[in-house]
Amino acid sequence: MFEHLLTPALLVDHGRLTRNVERMQSVCDASGVALWPHIKTHKMVEVARMQLAAGAQGLTCAKIGEAEALLPSGVRRVFLAHSLVDPLQAPRLRALADSLDELIVACTSEAQAEALERVLAAAELRLPVLMAVDTGLGREGARGPASAAGLAAAIGRQPHLCLRGVYTHEGHTYGGGENADEELRAVHERLVAARDRIDPSLSLWPGCSVTAARMAALGGVAAVRPGAYVFGDLNLTITNRVMDWEDVALTVLATVVDRPAPGLALVDAGSKTFSSDRTPDGTTGLLPGSPGARVTRCSEEHGWVTGPEADALAIGERVRFVPAHVCPVVNLADEVVVLRDGQAAETWRVAARGKVQ
Ligand SMILES: Cc1ncc(COP(=O)(O)O)c(C=O)c1O
Repeated sequence: MFEHLLTPALLVDHGRLTRNVERMQSVCDASGVALWPHIKTHKMVEVARMQLAAGAQGLTCAKIGEAEALLPSGVRRVFLAHSLVDPLQAPRLRALADSLDELIVACTSEAQAEALERVLAAAELRLPVLMAVDTGLGREGARGPASAAGLAAAIGRQPHLCLRGVYTHEGHTYGGGENADEELRAVHERLVAARDRIDPSLSLWPGCSVTAARMAALGGVAAVRPGAYVFGDLNLTITNRVMDWEDVALTVLATVVDRPAPGLALVDAGSKTFSSDRTPDGTTGLLPGSPGARVTRCSEEHGWVTGPEADALAIGERVRFVPAHVCPVVNLADEVVVLRDGQAAETWRVAARGKVQ
């Protein structure tokens, strides 16, 4: 199948994508929680449109360039969930804010609050701010309630910042361990404790693809920002078990290009397609129908398919892998091939690919 497509190519199953978008939206709607999906996963105007049409209240982006690229989706509200510090960005920030009804920015430390103030002053913008709280990942944000109170006070001293709520990215819960539910409750408790130390009326913004549905149900949450849920990958299916195989909407189509030794097939997709991300057990890509054949090693343009089922692969054969982590895979592609009823129907451009500024 798909012999008429050049490879490597990314295939997106439109039916599954639609189901994933709608399911996350209905989970959020049922709990009265706003969905602000993170677009870093798909970076496509078409997918952003689907999310907004389903009921997403806004989009989360890391960088200004991502938001700019997705403006044709019709988005009116954006949360930039990254630490802005560079006054060189002021004109772009101003233009972005002028194109939207609402632009929310992140404040991630006292020192960053001062740098952010300079950016906003240069842009002549007073913006709502979500303050970062570190709930265990060890990346940005206040470490504990006392530091959160200090950060809130620092934000209060800046004339161009207006504190709206607290957010966290609980990326440390991506491990699928036995204590996943306890970890999730601990994230919620830490975020609430930090918020309550400042002002209990501030809104709470946790929630990535692993936690969003359960976070929404915990109560008191204003908004969640899952990203990878739109497509799914090995992290969400095998490692964290929050998605079923039947819901994985993006696969890497590759061609078997050689069979150099028993138990080894080479495909034309390497790290320039799969990225270098792997699952904890070292898998880069898996064939859902043949779990005994996996991409376990990559050079730039070759993938090593190893395992007992690798010998069943023939030169020239097309194979469809589920990647370990879908977000960097999409960022490496110019476009995706969209499947409707299993047939290649159209291509969508990855409009925000490489928009890291
Ligand atoms: C700030 C922030 N919010 C939300 C997300 C969404 O995460 P995921 O794709 O795991 O759902 C990320 C992921 O890196 C993030 O950094």
